Amino acid sequence: MSETKPCRVVVLISGGGTNLQALIDAQQAGQLPVEIAAVISNRPDVKGLQRATSAGIPADVLDHTAFASREDFDRALTTLIDSHSPDLLVLAGFMRILTAEFTGHYLGRMLNIHPSLLPKYQGLHTHQRAIDAGDSCHGVTVHFVTAELDGGPAVVQAKVGIKAGDTAETLAQRVQQQEHIIYPLAVNWFANGSLHMQDGKSILNGELLPPSGHLIDCTG
Ligand code: GRF
Repeated sequence: MSETKPCRVVVLISGGGTNLQALIDAQQAGQLPVEIAAVISNRPDVKGLQRATSAGIPADVLDHTAFASREDFDRALTTLIDSHSPDLLVLAGFMRILTAEFTGHYLGRMLNIHPSLLPKYQGLHTHQRAIDAGDSCHGVTVHFVTAELDGGPAVVQAKVGIKAGDTAETLAQRVQQQEHIIYPLAVNWFANGSLHMQDGKSILNGELLPPSGHLIDCTG
Protein backbone atom coordinates (compact mmCIF):
# COMPACT_ATOMS: atom_id res chain seq x y z
CA MET A 1 0.00 0.00 0.00
CA SER A 2 1.31 3.48 -0.79
CA GLU A 3 1.96 6.09 1.89
CA THR A 4 -0.80 8.29 0.56
CA LYS A 5 -3.39 5.53 0.59
CA PRO A 6 -3.24 3.33 3.71
CA CYS A 7 -4.71 -0.15 3.68
CA ARG A 8 -8.44 0.10 4.33
CA VAL A 9 -9.59 -2.40 6.94
CA VAL A 10 -13.09 -3.47 7.93
CA VAL A 11 -13.30 -5.33 11.25
CA LEU A 12 -16.11 -7.79 12.03
CA ILE A 13 -16.94 -8.47 15.68
CA SER A 14 -19.58 -10.18 17.81
CA GLY A 15 -18.57 -9.16 21.32
CA GLY A 16 -16.14 -7.40 23.59
CA GLY A 17 -13.68 -6.40 20.95
CA THR A 18 -10.39 -6.53 22.83
CA ASN A 19 -8.64 -7.57 19.61
CA LEU A 20 -10.30 -4.65 17.85
CA GLN A 21 -8.97 -2.42 20.64
CA ALA A 22 -5.45 -3.77 20.11
CA LEU A 23 -5.70 -2.82 16.43
CA ILE A 24 -7.07 0.64 17.25
CA ASP A 25 -4.30 1.21 19.81
CA ALA A 26 -1.57 0.13 17.39
CA GLN A 27 -3.03 2.33 14.66
CA GLN A 28 -3.32 5.33 16.97
CA ALA A 29 0.27 4.78 18.19
CA GLY A 30 1.46 5.06 14.60
CA GLN A 31 2.51 1.40 14.52
CA LEU A 32 -0.12 0.16 12.08
CA PRO A 33 -0.40 1.83 8.66
CA VAL A 34 -4.13 1.21 8.19
CA GLU A 35 -7.37 3.07 8.12
CA ILE A 36 -10.05 1.21 10.04
CA ALA A 37 -12.89 2.17 7.72
CA ALA A 38 -15.68 0.48 9.68
CA VAL A 39 -16.52 -1.98 12.42
CA ILE A 40 -19.52 -4.25 11.88
CA SER A 41 -21.15 -6.41 14.54
CA ASN A 42 -23.78 -9.11 14.01
CA ARG A 43 -24.92 -8.48 17.59
CA PRO A 44 -26.34 -5.18 18.85
CA ASP A 45 -25.14 -3.50 22.06
CA VAL A 46 -21.76 -5.21 22.32
CA LYS A 47 -18.80 -3.43 23.88
CA GLY A 48 -16.77 -3.60 20.68
CA LEU A 49 -19.21 -1.16 19.07
CA GLN A 50 -18.55 1.37 21.85
CA ARG A 51 -14.81 0.90 21.35
CA ALA A 52 -15.23 1.76 17.65
CA THR A 53 -17.40 4.79 18.33
CA SER A 54 -14.99 6.09 20.99
CA ALA A 55 -12.21 5.89 18.41
CA GLY A 56 -14.31 7.77 15.84
CA ILE A 57 -14.74 4.71 13.62
CA PRO A 58 -18.10 4.15 11.89
CA ALA A 59 -19.86 1.27 13.68
CA ASP A 60 -22.67 -0.71 12.06
CA VAL A 61 -24.90 -3.50 13.32
CA LEU A 62 -26.24 -6.16 10.99
CA ASP A 63 -28.29 -8.45 13.19
CA HIS A 64 -28.18 -11.98 11.81
CA THR A 65 -31.43 -12.88 13.60
CA ALA A 66 -33.30 -10.60 11.19
CA PHE A 67 -32.41 -12.83 8.22
CA ALA A 68 -34.21 -15.97 7.07
CA SER A 69 -31.07 -17.84 6.06
CA ARG A 70 -27.29 -17.83 6.43
CA GLU A 71 -27.01 -17.08 2.70
CA ASP A 72 -29.28 -14.02 2.98
CA PHE A 73 -27.29 -12.67 5.93
CA ASP A 74 -23.91 -13.23 4.28
CA ARG A 75 -25.07 -11.48 1.10
CA ALA A 76 -26.33 -8.46 3.04
CA LEU A 77 -23.09 -8.45 5.04
CA THR A 78 -21.05 -8.53 1.82
CA THR A 79 -22.97 -5.53 0.48
CA LEU A 80 -22.42 -3.60 3.71
CA ILE A 81 -18.71 -4.48 3.91
CA ASP A 82 -18.09 -3.61 0.27
CA SER A 83 -19.75 -0.22 0.72
CA HIS A 84 -16.59 0.60 2.73
CA SER A 85 -14.24 -0.64 -0.05
CA PRO A 86 -11.87 -2.60 2.19
CA ASP A 87 -8.48 -3.94 1.16
CA LEU A 88 -8.57 -6.31 4.12
CA LEU A 89 -11.35 -7.86 6.19
CA VAL A 90 -10.40 -8.71 9.77
CA LEU A 91 -12.50 -11.14 11.80
CA ALA A 92 -11.98 -10.30 15.47
CA GLY A 93 -14.20 -12.56 17.54
CA PHE A 94 -16.82 -12.75 14.79
CA MET A 95 -18.84 -15.77 15.91
CA ARG A 96 -20.47 -16.86 12.66
CA ILE A 97 -19.95 -19.77 10.31
CA LEU A 98 -19.44 -18.26 6.86
CA THR A 99 -20.86 -19.43 3.54
CA ALA A 100 -18.47 -20.54 0.80
CA GLU A 101 -19.77 -17.64 -1.31
CA PHE A 102 -18.63 -15.21 1.39
CA THR A 103 -15.21 -16.79 1.97
CA GLY A 104 -14.67 -17.00 -1.80
CA HIS A 105 -15.45 -13.31 -2.23
CA TYR A 106 -12.78 -12.27 0.29
CA LEU A 107 -10.26 -15.03 -0.40
CA GLY A 108 -6.72 -13.80 0.21
CA ARG A 109 -7.92 -10.61 1.90
CA MET A 110 -9.59 -11.91 5.06
CA LEU A 111 -7.83 -12.81 8.32
CA ASN A 112 -9.15 -14.53 11.44
CA ILE A 113 -7.76 -15.13 14.91
CA HIS A 114 -8.44 -18.45 16.57
CA PRO A 115 -7.45 -19.31 20.14
CA SER A 116 -5.58 -22.56 19.54
CA LEU A 117 -2.47 -23.87 17.87
CA LEU A 118 -4.25 -24.77 14.65
CA PRO A 119 -4.83 -27.35 13.26
CA LYS A 120 -5.48 -28.44 16.86
CA TYR A 121 -8.83 -27.54 18.39
CA GLN A 122 -10.83 -26.02 15.60
CA GLY A 123 -14.23 -24.76 16.81
CA LEU A 124 -15.24 -23.74 20.34
CA HIS A 125 -14.05 -24.24 23.95
CA THR A 126 -10.44 -24.53 22.86
CA HIS A 127 -8.86 -23.63 26.22
CA GLN A 128 -10.82 -26.26 28.14
CA ARG A 129 -10.16 -28.87 25.47
CA ALA A 130 -6.41 -28.26 25.65
CA ILE A 131 -6.46 -28.54 29.47
CA ASP A 132 -8.63 -31.69 29.37
CA ALA A 133 -6.24 -33.29 26.87
CA GLY A 134 -3.32 -32.74 29.27
CA ASP A 135 -1.46 -30.58 26.75
CA SER A 136 1.64 -28.78 27.99
CA CYS A 137 1.07 -25.83 25.72
CA HIS A 138 -1.71 -23.98 23.94
CA GLY A 139 -1.87 -20.75 22.01
CA VAL A 140 -3.39 -18.70 19.25
CA THR A 141 -3.24 -18.56 15.47
CA VAL A 142 -3.86 -15.81 12.93
CA HIS A 143 -4.75 -17.33 9.58
CA PHE A 144 -6.18 -16.46 6.20
CA VAL A 145 -9.81 -17.53 5.95
CA THR A 146 -10.84 -20.16 3.43
CA ALA A 147 -14.06 -22.16 3.07
CA GLU A 148 -12.85 -24.64 5.67
CA LEU A 149 -13.78 -23.54 9.22
CA ASP A 150 -10.59 -22.50 11.07
CA GLY A 151 -8.72 -24.21 8.25
CA GLY A 152 -7.00 -21.56 6.13
CA PRO A 153 -3.22 -21.17 5.99
CA ALA A 154 -1.62 -19.94 9.20
CA VAL A 155 0.22 -16.60 9.27
CA VAL A 156 1.46 -16.40 12.84
CA GLN A 157 1.13 -18.50 15.97
CA ALA A 158 1.98 -17.70 19.58
CA LYS A 159 2.58 -20.67 21.82
CA VAL A 160 1.70 -20.33 25.52
CA GLY A 161 2.53 -22.82 28.30
CA ILE A 162 -0.28 -24.46 30.28
CA LYS A 163 0.43 -24.21 34.01
CA ALA A 164 -0.65 -26.64 36.73
CA GLY A 165 -3.96 -25.41 38.10
CA ASP A 166 -4.84 -23.41 34.97
CA THR A 167 -8.55 -23.02 34.32
CA ALA A 168 -10.03 -22.16 30.94
CA GLU A 169 -10.29 -18.58 32.21
CA THR A 170 -6.71 -18.16 33.43
CA LEU A 171 -5.35 -19.80 30.30
CA ALA A 172 -7.59 -17.66 28.06
CA GLN A 173 -6.24 -14.53 29.76
CA ARG A 174 -2.64 -15.41 28.94
CA VAL A 175 -3.56 -16.43 25.40
CA GLN A 176 -5.41 -13.14 24.90
CA GLN A 177 -2.29 -11.16 25.85
CA GLN A 178 -0.59 -12.82 22.89
CA GLU A 179 -3.63 -12.28 20.64
CA HIS A 180 -3.25 -8.55 21.18
CA ILE A 181 0.35 -8.74 19.97
CA ILE A 182 0.09 -11.10 17.01
CA TYR A 183 -3.05 -9.69 15.39
CA PRO A 184 -1.63 -6.17 14.90
CA LEU A 185 1.59 -7.84 13.71
CA ALA A 186 -0.20 -9.89 11.04
CA VAL A 187 -2.37 -6.95 9.93
CA ASN A 188 0.76 -4.81 9.70
CA TRP A 189 2.45 -7.39 7.45
CA PHE A 190 -0.57 -7.43 5.15
CA ALA A 191 -0.90 -3.65 5.16
CA ASN A 192 2.75 -3.03 4.28
CA GLY A 193 2.66 -5.59 1.48
CA SER A 194 4.89 -8.22 3.16
CA LEU A 195 2.14 -10.84 3.48
CA HIS A 196 -0.13 -12.45 0.96
CA MET A 197 -1.85 -15.72 0.21
CA GLN A 198 -0.88 -17.67 -2.89
CA ASP A 199 -2.12 -21.11 -3.97
CA GLY A 200 -3.66 -21.65 -0.54
CA LYS A 201 -0.40 -20.88 1.32
CA SER A 202 0.81 -17.92 3.37
CA ILE A 203 3.78 -16.06 1.91
CA LEU A 204 5.77 -13.60 4.05
CA ASN A 205 8.51 -11.50 2.45
CA GLY A 206 8.49 -13.82 -0.56
CA GLU A 207 9.04 -16.95 1.57
CA LEU A 208 6.55 -19.75 2.11
CA LEU A 209 5.60 -19.85 5.78
CA PRO A 210 5.61 -23.23 7.59
CA PRO A 211 2.26 -24.86 8.47
CA SER A 212 2.30 -23.11 11.88
CA GLY A 213 2.92 -19.73 10.26
CA HIS A 214 5.61 -17.57 11.86
CA LEU A 215 6.01 -19.10 15.32
CA ILE A 216 6.42 -17.06 18.50
CA ASP A 217 7.27 -19.29 21.44
CA CYS A 218 6.18 -17.81 24.78
CA THR A 219 6.49 -21.02 26.76
CA GLY A 220 9.97 -20.32 28.11
C1 GRF B 1 -10.71 -14.13 20.96
O1 GRF B 1 -10.33 -15.01 21.96
C2 GRF B 1 -10.42 -14.69 19.61
O2 GRF B 1 -9.31 -15.54 19.59
C3 GRF B 1 -11.67 -15.45 19.29
O3 GRF B 1 -12.70 -14.70 19.85
C4 GRF B 1 -12.21 -13.93 20.95
C5 GRF B 1 -12.59 -12.51 20.71
O4 GRF B 1 -12.28 -11.69 21.78
N1 GRF B 1 -11.79 -15.64 17.88
P1 GRF B 1 -12.46 -10.13 21.68
O5 GRF B 1 -13.91 -9.85 21.27
O6 GRF B 1 -11.49 -9.62 20.65
O7 GRF B 1 -12.17 -9.61 23.05
